[in-house]
Amino acid sequence: MTEHIVREVDATPYAASLIEGHRDFGYNLETALADIIDNAITAEARTVELIADTVAEEPWIALADDGSGMTETELVEAMRLGSKDPTDEREAEDLGRFGLGLKSASFSQCRSLTVLTRQDGRTSCARWDLDRVAKRNDWCLELIDNPEVVTGHDLLTETGTVVIWENLDRLSGGYTHDRAKRAEHMNSELSRAEHHLRLVFHRFLEGAKPRLKLSLNGRQLTPNDPMATSHAATQKDPEEVLRLRQGDVLIRCHTLPHHKRMSREEWEEIGGPEGHLKSQGLYVYREKRLIIAGGWLGLARQTELTKLCRIAVDIPNTMDAEWKIDVKKASAQLPPVVRERLKKVVERFVGTSKRTYRSRGQKLVDETRFPIWNRVQKDGQIVFRPNLEHPVFRTYSDQLPEELREGFERCLRIVGSGLPIETLHAELVGNAEAVTADETSATDLEELVYSLAVTLMENGVPSEALSDTMQSNPFLRLRWEAAAPILEDFLRTRIS
Ligand SMILES: Nc1ncnc2c1ncn2[C@@H]1O[C@H](COP(=O)(O)OP(=O)(O)OP(=O)(O)O)[C@@H](O)[C@H]1O
Ligand SMILES: [Mg+2]
Repeated sequence: MTEHIVREVDATPYAASLIEGHRDFGYNLETALADIIDNAITAEARTVELIADTVAEEPWIALADDGSGMTETELVEAMRLGSKDPTDEREAEDLGRFGLGLKSASFSQCRSLTVLTRQDGRTSCARWDLDRVAKRNDWCLELIDNPEVVTGHDLLTETGTVVIWENLDRLSGGYTHDRAKRAEHMNSELSRAEHHLRLVFHRFLEGAKPRLKLSLNGRQLTPNDPMATSHAATQKDPEEVLRLRQGDVLIRCHTLPHHKRMSREEWEEIGGPEGHLKSQGLYVYREKRLIIAGGWLGLARQTELTKLCRIAVDIPNTMDAEWKIDVKKASAQLPPVVRERLKKVVERFVGTSKRTYRSRGQKLVDETRFPIWNRVQKDGQIVFRPNLEHPVFRTYSDQLPEELREGFERCLRIVGSGLPIETLHAELVGNAEAVTADETSATDLEELVYSLAVTLMENGVPSEALSDTMQSNPFLRLRWEAAAPILEDFLRTRIS
Protein backbone atom coordinates (compact mmCIF):
# COMPACT_ATOMS: atom_id res chain seq x y z
CA MET A 1 0.00 0.00 0.00
CA THR A 2 1.40 3.42 -0.92
CA GLU A 3 1.91 5.84 1.96
CA HIS A 4 -0.14 9.06 2.01
CA ILE A 5 1.87 12.17 1.27
CA VAL A 6 0.86 14.47 4.07
CA ARG A 7 1.16 18.22 4.60
CA GLU A 8 0.04 19.84 7.85
CA VAL A 9 -1.81 23.12 8.28
CA ASP A 10 -2.92 24.82 11.44
CA ALA A 11 -6.69 24.31 11.99
CA THR A 12 -7.04 25.49 15.55
CA PRO A 13 -10.71 26.23 16.27
CA TYR A 14 -11.69 29.89 16.23
CA ALA A 15 -12.04 30.81 19.87
CA ALA A 16 -14.73 33.40 19.21
CA SER A 17 -17.13 31.10 17.38
CA LEU A 18 -16.39 27.96 19.38
CA ILE A 19 -16.98 29.60 22.71
CA GLU A 20 -20.25 31.12 21.43
CA GLY A 21 -21.28 27.63 20.32
CA HIS A 22 -20.76 26.47 23.91
CA ARG A 23 -23.73 28.58 24.90
CA ASP A 24 -26.18 26.28 23.19
CA PHE A 25 -25.88 22.81 24.65
CA GLY A 26 -29.56 23.15 25.51
CA TYR A 27 -29.32 24.19 29.15
CA ASN A 28 -31.93 26.29 30.87
CA LEU A 29 -31.53 28.09 34.17
CA GLU A 30 -32.44 25.05 36.24
CA THR A 31 -30.13 22.56 34.52
CA ALA A 32 -27.33 25.14 34.46
CA LEU A 33 -27.58 25.80 38.20
CA ALA A 34 -27.71 22.06 38.89
CA ASP A 35 -24.49 21.58 36.95
CA ILE A 36 -22.65 24.17 39.06
CA ILE A 37 -24.03 22.56 42.24
CA ASP A 38 -22.78 19.17 40.98
CA ASN A 39 -19.27 20.61 41.02
CA ALA A 40 -19.69 21.88 44.57
CA ILE A 41 -20.94 18.45 45.74
CA THR A 42 -18.00 16.74 44.04
CA ALA A 43 -15.72 19.19 45.87
CA GLU A 44 -17.37 17.93 49.10
CA ALA A 45 -19.17 21.12 49.95
CA ARG A 46 -21.58 20.99 52.92
CA THR A 47 -23.35 24.22 52.03
CA VAL A 48 -24.14 25.95 48.78
CA GLU A 49 -25.56 29.44 48.83
CA LEU A 50 -27.35 30.58 45.73
CA ILE A 51 -27.62 34.36 45.67
CA ALA A 52 -29.44 36.20 42.93
CA ASP A 53 -29.67 39.96 42.66
CA THR A 54 -32.45 40.38 40.15
CA VAL A 55 -33.24 44.04 40.81
CA ALA A 56 -29.76 45.54 40.40
CA GLU A 57 -28.95 47.75 37.43
CA GLU A 58 -26.76 44.84 36.26
CA PRO A 59 -28.32 41.67 37.72
CA TRP A 60 -26.03 38.83 38.78
CA ILE A 61 -26.17 35.31 40.19
CA ALA A 62 -23.59 33.71 42.47
CA LEU A 63 -23.17 30.18 43.80
CA ALA A 64 -20.90 29.97 46.81
CA ASP A 65 -19.73 26.65 48.22
CA ASP A 66 -17.54 25.64 51.14
CA GLY A 67 -15.93 22.74 49.29
CA SER A 68 -12.25 22.03 48.75
CA GLY A 69 -11.51 25.23 46.81
CA MET A 70 -8.75 25.30 44.18
CA THR A 71 -5.18 26.47 43.77
CA GLU A 72 -4.52 28.93 40.97
CA THR A 73 -3.19 26.15 38.73
CA GLU A 74 -6.29 24.06 39.41
CA LEU A 75 -8.48 27.07 38.73
CA VAL A 76 -6.86 27.67 35.35
CA GLU A 77 -7.42 23.99 34.52
CA ALA A 78 -11.02 24.19 35.71
CA MET A 79 -11.67 27.16 33.40
CA ARG A 80 -10.29 25.33 30.38
CA LEU A 81 -12.94 23.98 27.99
CA GLY A 82 -12.62 20.21 28.07
CA SER A 83 -10.51 20.32 31.22
CA LYS A 84 -10.90 16.58 31.76
CA ASP A 85 -10.99 13.57 29.48
CA PRO A 86 -14.53 12.16 29.41
CA THR A 87 -13.16 8.62 29.04
CA ASP A 88 -11.15 8.83 32.28
CA GLU A 89 -12.37 6.84 35.22
CA ARG A 90 -13.89 9.08 37.89
CA GLU A 91 -14.00 8.53 41.61
CA ALA A 92 -17.24 7.11 42.96
CA GLU A 93 -19.57 10.01 43.82
CA ASP A 94 -17.92 12.34 41.29
CA LEU A 95 -20.83 14.01 39.52
CA GLY A 96 -18.71 15.28 36.59
CA ARG A 97 -17.76 13.61 33.32
CA PHE A 98 -16.84 15.96 30.47
CA GLY A 99 -14.73 18.78 31.85
CA LEU A 100 -17.23 21.20 30.33
CA GLY A 101 -20.11 21.80 32.74
CA LEU A 102 -18.77 24.82 34.59
CA LYS A 103 -18.20 26.68 31.34
CA SER A 104 -21.07 25.50 29.18
CA ALA A 105 -23.68 25.78 31.96
CA SER A 106 -22.50 29.29 32.81
CA PHE A 107 -22.29 30.53 29.21
CA SER A 108 -25.80 29.28 28.58
CA GLN A 109 -26.99 31.99 30.97
CA CYS A 110 -24.41 34.76 31.01
CA ARG A 111 -21.63 36.40 29.00
CA SER A 112 -19.29 36.84 31.93
CA LEU A 113 -18.18 33.95 34.18
CA THR A 114 -15.95 34.71 37.15
CA VAL A 115 -14.67 32.03 39.52
CA LEU A 116 -13.26 33.02 42.88
CA THR A 117 -11.70 30.30 44.95
CA ARG A 118 -9.70 29.97 48.16
CA GLN A 119 -7.50 27.15 49.37
CA ASP A 120 -4.88 27.24 52.15
CA GLY A 121 -5.49 30.93 52.64
CA ARG A 122 -4.72 31.81 49.03
CA THR A 123 -7.41 33.39 46.92
CA SER A 124 -7.42 33.05 43.14
CA CYS A 125 -9.78 34.55 40.63
CA ALA A 126 -10.29 33.96 36.92
CA ARG A 127 -12.79 35.21 34.35
CA TRP A 128 -14.08 34.31 30.93
CA ASP A 129 -15.70 37.33 29.33
CA LEU A 130 -17.31 36.30 26.04
CA ASP A 131 -17.15 39.82 24.58
CA ARG A 132 -13.43 39.87 25.20
CA VAL A 133 -12.91 36.40 23.66
CA ALA A 134 -15.00 37.47 20.66
CA LYS A 135 -12.89 40.59 20.19
CA ARG A 136 -9.49 38.93 20.58
CA ASN A 137 -10.38 35.52 19.12
CA ASP A 138 -7.97 33.68 21.40
CA TRP A 139 -8.12 31.43 24.48
CA CYS A 140 -6.48 33.86 26.92
CA LEU A 141 -8.09 33.62 30.32
CA GLU A 142 -8.14 36.71 32.56
CA LEU A 143 -6.66 36.27 36.02
CA ILE A 144 -7.75 38.96 38.44
CA ASP A 145 -5.17 39.98 41.03
CA ASN A 146 -7.41 42.14 43.21
CA PRO A 147 -10.30 39.71 43.81
CA GLU A 148 -11.55 41.73 46.79
CA VAL A 149 -13.31 44.14 44.40
CA VAL A 150 -15.11 41.35 42.51
CA THR A 151 -18.90 41.04 42.99
CA GLY A 152 -19.56 38.08 45.27
CA HIS A 153 -16.19 38.30 47.04
CA ASP A 154 -17.89 38.60 50.42
CA LEU A 155 -19.46 35.17 49.86
CA LEU A 156 -16.09 33.43 49.80
CA THR A 157 -15.53 31.17 52.83
CA GLU A 158 -12.25 30.07 54.38
CA THR A 159 -11.93 27.37 51.79
CA GLY A 160 -14.39 27.19 48.97
CA THR A 161 -15.43 28.54 45.62
CA VAL A 162 -17.79 31.21 44.31
CA VAL A 163 -19.07 31.07 40.74
CA ILE A 164 -20.42 34.42 39.54
CA TRP A 165 -22.56 35.01 36.48
CA GLU A 166 -22.81 38.56 35.16
CA ASN A 167 -24.17 40.07 32.00
CA LEU A 168 -27.14 37.70 32.15
CA ASP A 169 -28.31 38.30 28.58
CA ARG A 170 -30.24 35.02 28.33
CA LEU A 171 -32.16 35.65 31.53
CA SER A 172 -33.52 39.10 30.80
CA GLY A 173 -36.59 37.69 29.04
CA GLY A 174 -36.15 40.38 26.39
CA TYR A 175 -36.85 43.16 28.92
CA THR A 176 -33.54 44.98 28.50
CA HIS A 177 -34.83 48.40 29.53
CA ASP A 178 -37.77 47.58 31.78
CA ARG A 179 -36.03 46.71 35.05
CA ALA A 180 -39.16 45.74 36.93
CA LYS A 181 -40.34 43.39 34.20
CA ARG A 182 -36.87 41.91 33.87
CA ALA A 183 -36.72 41.23 37.61
CA GLU A 184 -40.16 39.67 37.51
CA HIS A 185 -39.10 37.38 34.69
CA MET A 186 -35.89 36.35 36.44
CA ASN A 187 -37.72 35.68 39.68
CA SER A 188 -40.21 33.41 38.01
CA GLU A 189 -37.37 31.51 36.30
CA LEU A 190 -35.66 31.22 39.66
CA SER A 191 -38.73 29.84 41.33
CA ARG A 192 -38.99 27.14 38.63
CA ALA A 193 -35.32 26.41 39.16
CA GLU A 194 -35.91 26.14 42.89
CA HIS A 195 -38.44 23.37 42.34
CA HIS A 196 -35.98 21.57 40.07
CA LEU A 197 -33.08 21.80 42.52
CA ARG A 198 -35.18 20.55 45.43
CA LEU A 199 -36.08 17.56 43.29
CA VAL A 200 -32.73 16.83 41.62
CA PHE A 201 -30.73 17.00 44.84
CA HIS A 202 -33.39 15.67 47.22
CA ARG A 203 -31.26 12.76 48.37
CA PHE A 204 -28.51 15.18 49.42
CA LEU A 205 -30.91 17.53 51.22
CA GLU A 206 -32.74 14.85 53.23
CA GLY A 207 -32.34 13.63 56.78
CA ALA A 208 -31.62 15.13 60.16
CA LYS A 209 -28.03 15.72 59.12
CA PRO A 210 -28.25 16.40 55.42
CA ARG A 211 -25.23 15.91 53.22
CA LEU A 212 -25.86 19.34 51.73
CA LYS A 213 -27.52 22.56 52.82
CA LEU A 214 -28.72 24.55 49.87
CA SER A 215 -30.20 28.02 50.16
CA LEU A 216 -31.66 30.56 47.76
CA ASN A 217 -31.17 34.17 48.84
CA GLY A 218 -30.77 33.03 52.45
CA ARG A 219 -33.77 30.70 52.51
CA GLN A 220 -32.92 27.05 53.02
CA LEU A 221 -34.41 24.71 50.42
CA THR A 222 -36.23 21.59 51.55
CA PRO A 223 -36.01 18.32 49.63
CA ASN A 224 -38.79 17.22 47.29
CA ASP A 225 -38.76 13.42 47.20
CA PRO A 226 -40.63 12.17 44.11
CA MET A 227 -41.00 8.72 45.72
CA ALA A 228 -42.68 10.20 48.83
CA THR A 229 -40.56 7.68 50.72
CA SER A 230 -41.30 9.07 54.16
CA HIS A 231 -45.07 8.99 53.62
CA ALA A 232 -46.55 6.06 55.54
CA ALA A 233 -48.94 5.18 52.74
CA THR A 234 -46.30 4.92 50.01
CA GLN A 235 -45.89 1.34 48.87
CA LYS A 236 -42.26 0.34 48.39
CA ASP A 237 -41.48 -2.93 46.63
CA PRO A 238 -38.25 -4.76 47.48
CA GLU A 239 -35.16 -3.52 45.67
CA GLU A 240 -33.95 -5.50 42.66
CA VAL A 241 -30.29 -5.54 41.69
CA LEU A 242 -29.09 -5.87 38.14
CA ARG A 243 -25.40 -6.79 38.18
CA LEU A 244 -23.54 -5.64 35.09
CA ARG A 245 -19.92 -5.55 34.10
CA GLN A 246 -19.65 -1.80 34.78
CA GLY A 247 -21.48 -1.90 38.10
CA ASP A 248 -24.84 -2.50 39.74
CA VAL A 249 -28.15 -1.00 38.70
CA LEU A 250 -30.66 -0.82 41.56
CA ILE A 251 -34.35 -0.86 40.72
CA ARG A 252 -37.14 -0.13 43.16
CA CYS A 253 -40.84 0.26 42.39
CA HIS A 254 -42.92 2.72 44.39
CA THR A 255 -46.66 3.28 44.42
CA LEU A 256 -47.55 6.73 45.65
CA PRO A 257 -50.42 7.13 48.10
CA HIS A 258 -53.81 7.94 46.66
CA HIS A 259 -54.38 11.70 46.56
CA LYS A 260 -57.02 11.46 49.30
CA ARG A 261 -54.33 10.22 51.69
CA MET A 262 -52.11 13.26 51.21
CA SER A 263 -52.56 16.94 51.81
CA ARG A 264 -53.28 18.95 48.70
CA GLU A 265 -49.87 20.67 49.00
CA GLU A 266 -48.01 17.35 49.24
CA TRP A 267 -49.90 15.95 46.28
CA GLU A 268 -49.24 18.98 44.11
CA GLU A 269 -45.62 19.16 45.12
CA ILE A 270 -44.77 15.64 44.06
CA GLY A 271 -46.93 16.05 40.96
CA GLY A 272 -44.72 18.97 39.97
CA PRO A 273 -45.58 21.65 37.45
CA GLU A 274 -46.61 19.06 34.86
CA GLY A 275 -48.91 17.07 37.13
CA HIS A 276 -49.05 13.41 38.11
CA LEU A 277 -49.92 11.93 34.75
CA LYS A 278 -46.70 13.25 33.23
CA SER A 279 -44.60 12.57 36.33
CA GLN A 280 -45.19 8.81 36.49
CA GLY A 281 -42.44 6.54 35.28
CA LEU A 282 -38.73 6.10 35.75
CA TYR A 283 -36.57 8.23 38.01
CA VAL A 284 -32.92 7.67 37.17
CA TYR A 285 -30.34 8.67 39.75
CA ARG A 286 -26.66 8.87 38.85
CA GLU A 287 -24.59 8.81 42.04
CA LYS A 288 -27.77 9.80 43.98
CA ARG A 289 -28.33 12.85 41.78
CA LEU A 290 -31.54 12.72 39.76
CA ILE A 291 -30.93 12.94 36.02
CA ILE A 292 -34.28 11.76 34.63
CA ALA A 293 -37.55 12.60 36.35
CA GLY A 294 -40.47 10.59 35.04
CA GLY A 295 -41.60 9.18 31.71
CA TRP A 296 -41.32 5.51 30.76
CA LEU A 297 -38.52 5.88 28.16
CA GLY A 298 -40.62 3.95 25.68
CA LEU A 299 -41.32 1.01 28.04
CA ALA A 300 -44.94 1.83 28.79
CA ARG A 301 -47.59 4.45 28.18
CA GLN A 302 -48.44 7.16 30.66
CA THR A 303 -51.99 6.34 31.65
CA GLU A 304 -54.36 7.50 34.32
CA LEU A 305 -54.37 3.97 35.79
CA THR A 306 -50.61 3.99 36.34
CA LYS A 307 -50.12 7.53 37.45
CA LEU A 308 -49.11 6.54 40.98
CA CYS A 309 -46.29 4.31 39.67
CA ARG A 310 -42.74 5.54 40.00
CA ILE A 311 -39.61 3.46 39.68
CA ALA A 312 -36.30 4.61 41.16
CA VAL A 313 -33.30 3.42 39.13
CA ASP A 314 -29.86 3.98 40.63
CA ILE A 315 -26.75 3.90 38.48
CA PRO A 316 -23.06 4.55 39.20
CA ASN A 317 -20.90 6.97 37.16
CA THR A 318 -19.03 4.01 35.67
CA MET A 319 -21.87 3.45 33.19
CA ASP A 320 -21.95 6.92 31.64
CA ALA A 321 -20.91 5.77 28.19
CA GLU A 322 -23.49 2.95 28.09
CA TRP A 323 -26.25 5.25 29.32
CA LYS A 324 -25.15 8.04 26.95
CA ILE A 325 -25.19 10.60 29.74
CA ASP A 326 -25.20 14.10 28.23
CA VAL A 327 -23.16 17.12 29.33
CA LYS A 328 -26.19 18.63 31.11
CA LYS A 329 -26.85 15.40 33.08
CA ALA A 330 -30.45 15.80 32.03
CA SER A 331 -30.88 12.91 29.64
CA ALA A 332 -29.76 9.33 29.19
CA GLN A 333 -30.65 6.28 27.14
CA LEU A 334 -31.30 2.82 28.47
CA PRO A 335 -28.52 0.40 27.54
CA PRO A 336 -30.05 -2.68 25.80
CA VAL A 337 -29.43 -5.10 28.72
CA VAL A 338 -31.01 -2.71 31.19
CA ARG A 339 -33.90 -2.00 28.85
CA GLU A 340 -34.70 -5.70 28.58
CA ARG A 341 -34.71 -6.26 32.30
CA LEU A 342 -36.49 -3.04 33.10
CA LYS A 343 -39.15 -3.82 30.52
CA LYS A 344 -40.10 -6.92 32.50
CA VAL A 345 -40.15 -4.99 35.77
CA VAL A 346 -42.29 -2.23 34.24
CA GLU A 347 -44.71 -4.67 32.61
CA ARG A 348 -45.24 -6.53 35.86
CA PHE A 349 -45.52 -3.38 37.97
CA VAL A 350 -47.77 -1.49 35.59
CA GLY A 351 -49.92 -4.60 35.05
CA THR A 352 -50.44 -5.07 38.79
CA SER A 353 -51.26 -1.44 39.23
CA LYS A 354 -53.88 -1.52 36.49
CA ARG A 355 -55.45 -4.63 37.96
CA THR A 356 -55.60 -3.09 41.41
CA TYR A 357 -57.37 -0.06 39.99
CA ARG A 358 -59.80 -2.16 37.98
CA SER A 359 -60.60 -4.53 40.80
CA ARG A 360 -61.08 -1.55 43.04
CA GLY A 361 -63.63 -0.31 40.50
CA GLN A 362 -65.26 -3.72 40.42
CA LYS A 363 -65.34 -3.99 44.19
CA LEU A 364 -66.93 -0.60 44.61
CA VAL A 365 -69.80 -1.74 42.52
CA ASP A 366 -70.03 -5.26 43.97
CA GLU A 367 -69.96 -4.19 47.59
CA THR A 368 -72.62 -1.63 47.03
CA ARG A 369 -76.11 -2.61 47.74
CA PHE A 370 -78.19 -1.05 45.03
CA PRO A 371 -75.72 1.02 43.09
CA ILE A 372 -77.12 3.87 41.03
CA TRP A 373 -74.83 2.87 38.17
CA ASN A 374 -74.00 -0.67 37.18
CA ARG A 375 -70.65 -1.56 35.70
CA VAL A 376 -71.33 -4.08 32.98
CA GLN A 377 -68.77 -6.04 31.01
CA LYS A 378 -69.96 -6.45 27.44
CA ASP A 379 -68.06 -7.79 24.41
CA GLY A 380 -64.70 -6.96 25.98
CA GLN A 381 -65.86 -3.45 26.77
CA ILE A 382 -67.02 -1.83 29.95
CA VAL A 383 -70.34 -0.07 30.02
CA PHE A 384 -71.79 2.05 32.82
CA ARG A 385 -75.55 1.77 32.89
CA PRO A 386 -78.12 3.38 35.23
CA ASN A 387 -79.49 0.66 37.50
CA LEU A 388 -83.22 0.65 36.77
CA GLU A 389 -83.72 -1.65 39.77
CA HIS A 390 -82.44 0.98 42.17
CA PRO A 391 -85.07 1.64 44.84
CA VAL A 392 -85.29 5.33 43.97
CA PHE A 393 -86.18 4.52 40.38
CA ARG A 394 -88.30 1.50 41.28
CA THR A 395 -90.32 3.33 43.91
CA TYR A 396 -91.03 6.17 41.54
CA SER A 397 -91.77 3.90 38.63
CA ASP A 398 -94.25 1.92 40.74
CA GLN A 399 -96.15 5.10 41.47
CA LEU A 400 -96.49 5.92 37.80
CA PRO A 401 -99.49 4.87 35.78
CA GLU A 402 -98.70 1.83 33.66
CA GLU A 403 -98.48 3.79 30.37
CA LEU A 404 -95.78 6.17 31.65
CA ARG A 405 -93.41 3.56 33.10
CA GLU A 406 -91.95 2.57 29.79
CA GLY A 407 -91.19 6.24 28.98
CA PHE A 408 -89.56 6.81 32.35
CA GLU A 409 -87.24 3.85 31.93
CA ARG A 410 -86.38 5.00 28.42
CA CYS A 411 -85.32 8.39 29.79
CA LEU A 412 -82.99 6.69 32.25
CA ARG A 413 -81.50 4.49 29.56
CA ILE A 414 -80.87 7.55 27.40
CA VAL A 415 -79.03 9.21 30.30
CA GLY A 416 -76.86 6.06 30.40
CA SER A 417 -76.11 5.92 26.68
CA GLY A 418 -75.49 9.66 26.69
CA LEU A 419 -72.66 9.38 29.23
CA PRO A 420 -70.08 11.77 27.73
CA ILE A 421 -67.23 9.23 27.62
CA GLU A 422 -64.89 11.22 25.37
CA THR A 423 -65.23 14.40 27.36
CA LEU A 424 -64.72 12.43 30.56
CA HIS A 425 -61.57 10.85 29.14
CA ALA A 426 -60.23 14.25 28.17
CA GLU A 427 -61.01 15.73 31.57
CA LEU A 428 -59.71 12.75 33.51
CA VAL A 429 -56.35 12.80 31.80
CA GLY A 430 -54.10 14.78 34.05
CA ASN A 431 -56.87 16.37 35.99
CA ALA A 432 -58.80 13.44 37.42
CA GLU A 433 -59.05 14.87 40.95
CA ALA A 434 -60.97 17.87 39.70
CA VAL A 435 -63.72 15.79 38.11
CA THR A 436 -66.55 15.21 40.60
CA ALA A 437 -70.20 14.27 40.65
CA ASP A 438 -72.89 16.92 40.85
CA GLU A 439 -74.16 18.08 44.24
CA THR A 440 -77.24 16.36 45.67
CA SER A 441 -80.02 18.54 47.00
CA ALA A 442 -81.44 17.85 50.45
CA THR A 443 -84.77 16.69 49.07
CA ASP A 444 -83.11 14.37 46.54
CA LEU A 445 -80.99 12.85 49.26
CA GLU A 446 -84.05 12.37 51.43
CA GLU A 447 -85.85 10.59 48.62
CA LEU A 448 -82.85 8.35 48.10
CA VAL A 449 -82.39 7.45 51.78
CA TYR A 450 -86.06 6.77 52.33
CA SER A 451 -86.61 4.55 49.33
CA LEU A 452 -83.35 2.72 49.92
CA ALA A 453 -84.18 2.15 53.60
CA VAL A 454 -87.60 0.77 52.77
CA THR A 455 -86.22 -1.59 50.12
CA LEU A 456 -83.38 -2.78 52.33
CA MET A 457 -85.80 -3.58 55.14
CA GLU A 458 -88.07 -5.40 52.72
CA ASN A 459 -84.98 -7.36 51.72
CA GLY A 460 -84.51 -8.44 55.31
CA VAL A 461 -81.91 -5.94 56.52
CA PRO A 462 -82.67 -5.21 60.21
CA SER A 463 -83.14 -1.55 61.09
CA GLU A 464 -80.03 -1.42 63.27
CA ALA A 465 -77.93 -2.55 60.29
CA LEU A 466 -79.31 0.06 57.92
CA SER A 467 -76.68 2.64 58.69
CA ASP A 468 -73.75 0.29 57.99
CA THR A 469 -75.33 -1.16 54.89
CA MET A 470 -76.04 2.25 53.48
CA GLN A 471 -72.52 3.41 54.13
CA SER A 472 -71.14 0.57 52.06
CA ASN A 473 -72.57 2.56 49.18
CA PRO A 474 -69.83 5.03 48.21
CA PHE A 475 -72.32 7.61 47.06
CA LEU A 476 -73.95 7.73 50.47
CA ARG A 477 -70.70 7.29 52.37
CA LEU A 478 -69.45 10.53 50.83
CA ARG A 479 -72.61 12.32 51.87
CA TRP A 480 -73.10 10.53 55.18
CA GLU A 481 -73.04 13.65 57.30
CA ALA A 482 -76.15 14.85 55.51
CA ALA A 483 -77.68 11.40 55.09
CA ALA A 484 -77.38 10.20 58.71
CA PRO A 485 -80.03 12.59 60.17
CA ILE A 486 -82.40 11.61 57.36
CA LEU A 487 -82.03 7.95 58.24
CA GLU A 488 -82.55 8.72 61.95
CA ASP A 489 -85.67 10.60 61.04
CA PHE A 490 -86.86 7.68 58.95
CA LEU A 491 -86.29 5.21 61.76
CA ARG A 492 -88.06 7.43 64.28
CA THR A 493 -91.18 7.89 62.13
CA ARG A 494 -91.09 4.21 61.23
CA ILE A 495 -90.99 3.04 64.83
CA SER A 496 -93.54 5.49 66.15
N1 LIG B 1 -16.92 24.40 43.03
C1 LIG B 1 -15.78 23.78 42.72
N2 LIG B 1 -14.89 23.44 43.69
C2 LIG B 1 -13.73 22.81 43.40
N3 LIG B 1 -13.37 22.44 42.14
C3 LIG B 1 -14.20 22.74 41.13
C4 LIG B 1 -15.44 23.42 41.36
N4 LIG B 1 -16.06 23.59 40.18
C5 LIG B 1 -15.25 23.03 39.25
N5 LIG B 1 -14.14 22.51 39.82
C6 LIG B 1 -13.05 21.83 39.11
O1 LIG B 1 -13.15 22.20 37.76
C7 LIG B 1 -13.22 21.07 36.93
C8 LIG B 1 -14.05 21.40 35.72
O2 LIG B 1 -15.41 21.51 36.06
P1 LIG B 1 -16.51 21.24 34.95
O3 LIG B 1 -17.83 21.33 35.57
O4 LIG B 1 -16.25 22.14 33.80
O5 LIG B 1 -16.20 19.76 34.49
P2 LIG B 1 -16.45 18.40 35.28
O6 LIG B 1 -17.24 18.65 36.50
O7 LIG B 1 -15.12 17.75 35.45
O8 LIG B 1 -17.29 17.56 34.21
P3 LIG B 1 -18.74 17.93 33.62
O9 LIG B 1 -18.50 18.62 32.33
O10 LIG B 1 -19.35 16.60 33.42
O11 LIG B 1 -19.41 18.78 34.62
C9 LIG B 1 -13.78 19.99 37.82
O12 LIG B 1 -13.41 18.73 37.36
C10 LIG B 1 -13.16 20.32 39.18
O13 LIG B 1 -11.87 19.79 39.24
MG1 LIG C 1 -19.08 19.70 36.42
